[in-house]
Amino acid sequence: MICGSVASCRLTEDELAARAVAAIVGAMTQDAILERLSAALGPKGVTADNETLAPWLTDWRGRITGSAIALVSPKNREEVQSVVRIAGEAGVPIVPQGGNTGMVAGGVPRPHDQAILLSLRKMDAIRSVDPGDNSITVEAGTILSRVHATAAEHDRRFPLSLGAKDSATVGGLIATNAGGTQVLRFGSMRALTLGIEAVLPDGSLFEGLSTLRKDNRGYDLRQLLAGAEGTLGVITAASLRLVPAAPHRCVAWLGLETAPNALATLRRLEAALGDAVESFELVPEAALALVLQHIADTRAPLEKAHRWNVLVELRAASDPEGLRTRFETALGEILSTGLIADAAIAESEAQADALWKLRETIAEAERIDGMAAKHDVSVPVSAMPDFVEDATKAVEQRFAGARVVAFGHLGDGNVHFNVRAPAGADDKAWFAETGGAVNRFVHDLTHAAGGSLSAEHGIGQLKLAEFARLADPARLAALRAIKQALDPGNIMNPGKLIPLDNSAENP
Ligand code: FAD
Ligand code: MLT
Ligand code: ZN
Repeated sequence: MICGSVASCRLTEDELAARAVAAIVGAMTQDAILERLSAALGPKGVTADNETLAPWLTDWRGRITGSAIALVSPKNREEVQSVVRIAGEAGVPIVPQGGNTGMVAGGVPRPHDQAILLSLRKMDAIRSVDPGDNSITVEAGTILSRVHATAAEHDRRFPLSLGAKDSATVGGLIATNAGGTQVLRFGSMRALTLGIEAVLPDGSLFEGLSTLRKDNRGYDLRQLLAGAEGTLGVITAASLRLVPAAPHRCVAWLGLETAPNALATLRRLEAALGDAVESFELVPEAALALVLQHIADTRAPLEKAHRWNVLVELRAASDPEGLRTRFETALGEILSTGLIADAAIAESEAQADALWKLRETIAEAERIDGMAAKHDVSVPVSAMPDFVEDATKAVEQRFAGARVVAFGHLGDGNVHFNVRAPAGADDKAWFAETGGAVNRFVHDLTHAAGGSLSAEHGIGQLKLAEFARLADPARLAALRAIKQALDPGNIMNPGKLIPLDNSAENP
């Protein structure tokens, strides 16, 4: 529950717990906690300065502003252990944070938390690269684009990318089990994470850094920590899977009129080009228009506007000419069937980058344009094209004037089904009044289609109530039991991912 004054709100179990925490913090004074943190990390590792803290307390979408008694920036895993032990003794919540690019406000405290915000950004060492093993081991604060660059120096690549690649960290990517634009071929972060080192809620170090491809020693703690959104521990380092470099790419922009045609096009391209097809991203006319309006140095890639667009990327280790020829032939055949109406293939790396910019800046363009009810839904891949078309009609019928912008990872059965206020409406007022109903409507449609309300962004704070509403009881009970077993004091990122009861309201 988020509201201006906690006193005026009905308290959830979580908030009652937070109040208990506040009472304990009262017992060990805030000053005493800060002193202990400074003694453990040195004065440069701890700040309670409001101006320094402020940018890290609000999430990327600007939806939640949390409260913290301090921002701590450990330099190594031992310092992380000290912070976790101090927080445990004081009963203060810890919120792990990487680049703060998350979409569900998981990396910022709740408004009443008075948390310790634990930034991993100083822990960004590349510990090792082993080309023979196709693996890289890095600290959790390492930024994704640096992992890409380091792998490339060794003639390898790390095959996961997303629009926030220059800010998102490995710890945050693992903690959210991020997806991105190459899941089609390589899977999400879980599939690419070989080993994890983490500080658990009791301050112990889980030394799970390993590059083993096979390891059947029971429950997989690595896979529990991945996607746990910082609720089970602080990831301090990870070993990641690399794949051979594939320096040759063909990037194309397609224009077409229906979402089912887009999926049919993907299947034809796969039949012709196999797993050279690495990315297949759906961009509706409205999303492209937002990018062209708000993002500098962008221009329409095709002569005419189309209801739908697709960005396709193919990759190959060798024979770029052969790849290009086969791509042109396949596209020619697909054009002749009428599945696509137009296509432009990038003639240079600069043109390929320009096409990717149109896709990767959609989130930023939407943010500049105003508030949206964002949904990160998945349904079976084969059902997604009809889902997009039918759900769009249903939303537009139910909420007069609402504008749907559904874009993203069609080949993974995952789109960001965002709903914007009617043209000319006060978006904040519309969102405050209608946003909750829109969320429930879209999630009900997703649920009915056998889908998930979180395909790749996680639950965080923003999806908590909807998760509680729609998840099956056995799933919730298992999540709560695991959380209770590993973090009985509920100090690790409380109020995120795990609904303590079903009464939380959507912020
Ligand atoms: P933060 O935002 O700082 O944290 C995210 C969560 O992870 C929080 O719950 C936090 O507590 C936890 N966490 C962070 N570090 C640690 C750690 N070391 N140990 C334990 N827990 C930790 N996501 C996709 O999946 N696919 C996309 O295509 C995609 N595109 C994006 C494009 C843009 C422009 C933006 C802004 C975001 C996008 N995202 C996408 C969101 C994505 O979740 C984040 O980019 C990324 O996964 C989070 O990394 P971060 O370091 O910023 O984590
Ligand atoms: C994307 O695919 O661009 C991201 O997941 C960001 C978003 O959903 O806005
Ligand atoms: Zn996405």
